[in-house]
Parts: sequence; structure tokens; C-alpha cells
Amino acid sequence: MSTERTLVLVKPDGVNRQLTGQILARIEAKGYRLAELKQVTATRAILESHYEEHVGKPFYEPLVEFMLSGPVVAAIFEGERVIEGFRSLAGTTDPTTATPGTIRGDFGRDWGEKVQQNLVHGSDSPESAEREIGIWFS
Ligand code: RTP
Ligand code: MG
Repeated sequence: MSTERTLVLVKPDGVNRQLTGQILARIEAKGYRLAELKQVTATRAILESHYEEHVGKPFYEPLVEFMLSGPVVAAIFEGERVIEGFRSLAGTTDPTTATPGTIRGDFGRDWGEKVQQNLVHGSDSPESAEREIGIWFS
């Protein structure tokens, strides 16, 4: 198995709740290497590209608004099977029912907002990872 890279975003809810350090610490503690890190304010153009697979879905516009609501922290992590490893660490999309022990399961819940505020994003395939790294770290 060759070394992979993945794009991790701490979403605006995670940054606003000052959970960035705890989230990054969990990824490092699992053994992945932090290769790049920055705090950025997204733009609509970045998000249209990042979330192109979701354009037109009912949650797309609320998702973009949420992602523009404050800064995000973007990171590249490296390691064998880091893509699936990080998604396992993050937990399932819905934070209310995400398994305890995962990032979303331990820190997230439904807040009654239009879109699921679930703290983190992680690339879902090697192709997505390279595409997304190009968007956030070009
Ligand atoms: P992500 O891309 O952020 O790592 O999350 P994911 O793969 O688990 O979820 P995905 O299906 O790619 O959806 C992207 C993000 O959109 C928001 N979402 N809200 N029904 C809803 O309210 C809903 N569905 C999706 C979440 O923030 C999700 O992470
Ligand atoms: Mg996704």
C-alpha cells in the first residue's frame, strides 16, 4: 500500500468552537503526518469547485453559506491509507448518530440548522484528494 495524501478541513463550526487543536491532535495521534496547515476564509468560487458533486442538491446552498460563515482550517495529512483512516476517525456524516469515539460522534450534534454542521471534511478517494488539495493549496 503506497503512502496517500488527504485534504482535511476543520469547518467553521469546529474553528468557532475552538476545537481545531483537539481535532488535529486526534489525527496526529492516530499516526498520520501533518504536511501542510493553514487557516483560510473560503470563497464562493472555492466552494463551488470543492463541492461540485453536490451542486443542485437541496443542502448545497445552505452548505455553502455555512462554509462561508467563518474561517476554516485546511490541512494535508499523509500516511498509508490515510483517506479511509481519516474518514473512519471523522465518523458518519450525521453528527447526532455518529459513533462515539469519532470526531463527529464526540464533538458534534444537530443544532437545528438547515445543514449538518459536522466539524470536518475529509477527501473520499485518491482522485478527490488530489483535486481538493489543488483547490485549497494551489
Ligand atoms: P465531507 O464531504 O464534508 O467530508 O462529508 P461527507 O462526505 O460525510 O458528506 P457529503 O455527502 O459529501 O456531504 C457534504 C457535506 O454536506 C453537508 N450535508 N448536509 N442533509 C443534510 O443536511 C446534509 N447532507 C450533507 C454536511 O456538512 C456534509 O459533510
Ligand atoms: Mg463528502
